Amino acid sequence: MVNEILQFKNGNPVSSPEERIDLLPKTIWKNNKKCVALDIGCNAGNLTQSLHVFLKNNVSEDCSLLGVDIDPILIRRANEANTSDNVYFQCLDFMDQNNRETIIKNYLLLNNTDIFSVVFCFSTTMWIHLNNGDMGLKTFLKEAALISDMLIIEPQPWKCYKAAVKRLKKVFRFPLFSELKIRENVEDEIEKFLIDECNMVKIAVTNRTKWDRKIIFFEKLLVTSTLSAILCKKINFEVADSDS
Ligand SMILES: C[S@@+](CC[C@H](N)C(=O)[O-])C[C@H]1O[C@@H](n2cnc3c(N)ncnc32)[C@H](O)[C@@H]1O
Repeated sequence: MVNEILQFKNGNPVSSPEERIDLLPKTIWKNNKKCVALDIGCNAGNLTQSLHVFLKNNVSEDCSLLGVDIDPILIRRANEANTSDNVYFQCLDFMDQNNRETIIKNYLLLNNTDIFSVVFCFSTTMWIHLNNGDMGLKTFLKEAALISDMLIIEPQPWKCYKAAVKRLKKVFRFPLFSELKIRENVEDEIEKFLIDECNMVKIAVTNRTKWDRKIIFFEKLLVTSTLSAILCKKINFEVADSDS
């Protein structure tokens, strides 16, 4: 299992949950009555649990969080260690459309909402990208943006890709690696794609961390719905005008 080889069995080896939590701004959150959140690539759930405490303290006391990961061993470990009533863990390859739709739809339904208040994706985009190519990364970003009111991403920079591929070359091959067109500027490309193609707006970014990542905060742009409401009104007016 790649996670075993990379020593990701207990989260990210380069930083602790507390170090990430300390970087989260306190002022950007919407004051929802209830907060429903998703953590994609939750690993063994350590960071997920800390995110839940953060959301409860800073967004809403009423907060449910679903952590998903492709690795069933990690999800078992996350479930065994889980003591919170409102944190759930489920095994899911986020790129598997059928399972994703079922699991996400059921969880949202259970929480009486059609969108997550916030979706986290810490240090996971590189694995999605390496395993699914440029198109896979774009599909991932589109799908994550679609289900989130707020999207928080910590992408790995290109040098992590080179290090991972080199480190794993004897045991694991990434056949799509050499074909990737999104490379050196992958963090900028992710940001640009979310803004240009996924209807998101960047609201904050952290400084580069000591583990050489930045956390980027996006919010769903509501202009489209406002614009379509205006257009609808205009069309209605025109129909009314031509009727009279
Ligand atoms: C580097 S770890 C990050 C763990 C945690 N988010 C953190 O930052 O501490 C990346 C995680 O993404 C998971 N992952 C990779 N591809 C995935 C996919 N397609 N769907 C869900 N999880 C995935 C891996 O199993 C791994 O646990």
